[in-house]
Amino acid sequence: MLRRTVVLVQALTAVIAAAGVVMLLVAQPPPPPPMPVRAPGSTIDLVAAGRPIYASQCESCHGAWGEGVYAPVTIDAAASKAKFPDPEVEEAVVLDGRGQMPSFRGRLTADQVEAVVAYVRTLS
Ligand code: HEC
Repeated sequence: MLRRTVVLVQALTAVIAAAGVVMLLVAQPPPPPPMPVRAPGSTIDLVAAGRPIYASQCESCHGAWGEGVYAPVTIDAAASKAKFPDPEVEEAVVLDGRGQMPSFRGRLTADQVEAVVAYVRTLS
């Protein structure tokens, strides 16, 4: 009787663990918040616009301060400026993805990528 209960509990635990793995695999992050439309010559605050994009799209891997939680790299102001003197090169990493980092092409617009990189470049 006890053995049967143990087997049952083990089977249930395996099923729950498997369901958890499947849910992790199919879970999609929420869509990014909309970005205000930029008219030519707009003075929109890119950093402010980038903050909510970072929170919803990047923070889970990179941490609130860019310190790296899942990602093995720091992406704060100092690291960004040292590695990517040209922000456009950093934007290209976000658009194309690299290694374990997914591509954001098609998920974020060019304006959103510019804004989120501007925000990352203020983290410290
Ligand atoms: C699924 C986890 C994940 C998400 C989400 C993610 N990243 Fe990354 N990111 C990584 C990993 C892992 C690396 C290291 C890639 C490598 O070089 O192999 C990385 C690298 C980077 C780099 C290059 C850093 C360097 O020093 O070379 C930048 C910049 C970056 N991410 C910005 C972002 C931004 C901005 C977002 C949100 C739009 C984002 N990432 C979302 C995992 C993620």
